Amino acid sequence: MDRRCWLPVCVILLMALQDSSQERVEGFTRGKVILPCRYNAMPAKEVTIFWRYKDDRNVYNIVSGKSDLTDQDRQFRDRTRIFPEEWANGNFSLLLTDLKDSDSGSYSCFIPRVNILHQVELSVQEKPTPEVGPKSSSMSIKGQNLILFLFLLLSPDLHFL
Ligand SMILES: *[C@@H]1O[C@H](CO)[C@@H](O)[C@H](O)[C@H]1NC(C)=O
Repeated sequence: MDRRCWLPVCVILLMALQDSSQERVEGFTRGKVILPCRYNAMPAKEVTIFWRYKDDRNVYNIVSGKSDLTDQDRQFRDRTRIFPEEWANGNFSLLLTDLKDSDSGSYSCFIPRVNILHQVELSVQEKPTPEVGPKSSSMSIKGQNLILFLFLLLSPDLHFL
């Protein structure tokens, strides 16, 4: 069998796998979220990554290992962070802070050097209202009351034994 025939098939399969790489990330308003993007290690000086929102809005540019925020969309000003110390691990994740409803949508991490586009679908939800806190603690108080109640209910029996 001619093994060369299989090479294009493998390449197409790999491309198909990469194209389909999409992740979903959830966050809460006023919270923060990590938008993941991984690629096996490339030399830090050569790291060039374009983070985009809805295909064309500039979220973050890393050019030859340096941040370049000159064309960053105003929507993301002062709300992004990258982690150069993670690049050696092939981790090009982006931190987005002070989340807003309007941040929901698709983000892409494009690595031109290897022509890889990784997509992350972000969904930002309204932060649960504070009443959830007291509610859950009152539930644990109820739980404690129940244990106390059972204890009181059962303890007279103990005396009669
Ligand atoms: C990538 O780096 C970020 C920031 O340090 C970290 O939160 C995240 O867990 C890392 N991802 C992986 C898969 O290691």
